[in-house]
Amino acid sequence: MTETPLQIIRYPHPVLATRAAEVDAVDDELRQLAARMIETMYAAEGVGLAAPQVGRSIRLFVADPRDSPEPDPVVFVNPRLELEGDLEIFEEGCLSIPDIRVDVRRPGAARILATDLDGEEFALESDGFAARVWQHEFDHLEGRLITDRMSPRDRLVHRRALKEMRADFETMGGL
Ligand code: NI
Repeated sequence: MTETPLQIIRYPHPVLATRAAEVDAVDDELRQLAARMIETMYAAEGVGLAAPQVGRSIRLFVADPRDSPEPDPVVFVNPRLELEGDLEIFEEGCLSIPDIRVDVRRPGAARILATDLDGEEFALESDGFAARVWQHEFDHLEGRLITDRMSPRDRLVHRRALKEMRADFETMGGL
């Protein structure tokens, strides 16, 4: 079943800077939203998409870090993260901040606990790219973007581009 892709909300919309609320119930509406988010993620060639990025301030994200040749999307409801390992620097992009890539420092390993679309708890571990993707998407649920984690150098490099995005947002009428 093909779903209509959702519109991806862009920086600096305030929903992206808001801590998302816990999901109360895994129901058909949530399953439908998750299916559309997966479709939207693939359409945008992303490896992860969080609900605030489609205008829903709830603790839900989808991810497919592409560590298998076949599509393997995973849905995380009310995720919790346990981080381990040394900080590693890796260049990240974000579908809500197109055209910008910044070096972000994060722990190299993560265990994630979440609820799936059947309402069951599950846990996954990674010391690879998936750990990076989960942390990026989890940040979205906390209202944090890669721009909040930029080095002073990246802040300078991207100053103009970010300023233009803020100006575009104003021109579009803000909210
Ligand atoms: Ni992002």
